[in-house]
Amino acid sequence: MTDTVRIIEMGPRDGLQNEKTPVSVADRIKFVEALVGAGLSTIEVGAFVSPRAIPQMVGSDEVLRGVSHLRGEFHVLVPNEKGYDAARAAGAKVVSVFASASEGFSRANINCTIAESIERFRPVLLRAKADGVRVRGYVSCVLGCPYDGEVKPRAVADVAKRLWELGCYEISLGDTIGVGTPAKARAMLRTVAADVPARALAMHFHDTYGQALANLYAGMEEGIRVIDSAAGGLGGCPYAPGATGNVATEDVVYMLEGMGIKTGVDMDRLLEATDTMSKLIGRPPLSRVASALNAKKRAASKE
Ligand code: HMG
Ligand code: MG
Repeated sequence: MTDTVRIIEMGPRDGLQNEKTPVSVADRIKFVEALVGAGLSTIEVGAFVSPRAIPQMVGSDEVLRGVSHLRGEFHVLVPNEKGYDAARAAGAKVVSVFASASEGFSRANINCTIAESIERFRPVLLRAKADGVRVRGYVSCVLGCPYDGEVKPRAVADVAKRLWELGCYEISLGDTIGVGTPAKARAMLRTVAADVPARALAMHFHDTYGQALANLYAGMEEGIRVIDSAAGGLGGCPYAPGATGNVATEDVVYMLEGMGIKTGVDMDRLLEATDTMSKLIGRPPLSRVASALNAKKRAASKE
């Protein structure tokens, strides 16, 4: 079992990209500040994608500039060179390209085949290398696709390998619709780890069926050390109908600390960050740990 884990906080990007009412740039910046204050040091803060596809991420340039004075590593999504140009102009030092293991989701999400997406990413990777920018790669639908159904581990490994060979420093494997179970997750991760070193893999699990923590544990047993999560279990994708948010950062932190793995996250401050965002979007957090700890606090304040 691994003894160190890196958490990549997804709240300001994946967390907010599917909210009915877009959250303002100022509130997104405050959210990032609060997350940094809680001890999260790597945060995905926006996406340079089509404003027609994801209006919620408009203003990601202002968000990136607005957090540049903070201590931390701030990531943004870029689907193509146009996104890369905009991200660079806003000062991005780490960008993420995103592919899919299934053709149906690739078409719905980024309007191209998997092979075409790799060709779109190639110039981004080349330019990033010349610019000294690090590139993370995502593979979506690694345990199932809302359009194509079952996804074979081999298909995931093929896309992950291509992103790795293009030069991505880390490949984040997304259970976009949160349908995976531990044995399936383990089998998929083993297949991918035969082509991409386990140290360069990350787990990005949505929690639709409540399996994300169990799947993460299985992945940790396979030696995967990087976890994507979102404060309060925020998240979703307009092209992944029915899927709920990312595994909650609170739940991940609680599990890891319970295993003796230090996260550097201050749970009280994380709960405050989640609470503020939760009030803004008008929904309680999906995190079991946040609900339990908030209830405990309320009970204590009545005593
Ligand atoms: P397209 O329509 O094929 O692109 O969309 P195009 O090149 O033909 O351009 C069409 C229009 O979009 C043009 O504008 C372009 O300028 C503009 P028009 O002339 O019509 O006014 N455009 C852009 N604008 C801003 N930034 C850009 C950009 N590129 C083109 N970078 C495209 C292709 C990829 C752009 C589009 O489908 C898109 O933006 N998709 C975004 C999808 C997205 O953000 N999804 C959510 C994130 S992925 C996710 O959540 C999964 C993940 O969390 C992991 C997991 O859970 O599995 C990462
Ligand atoms: Mg996601």
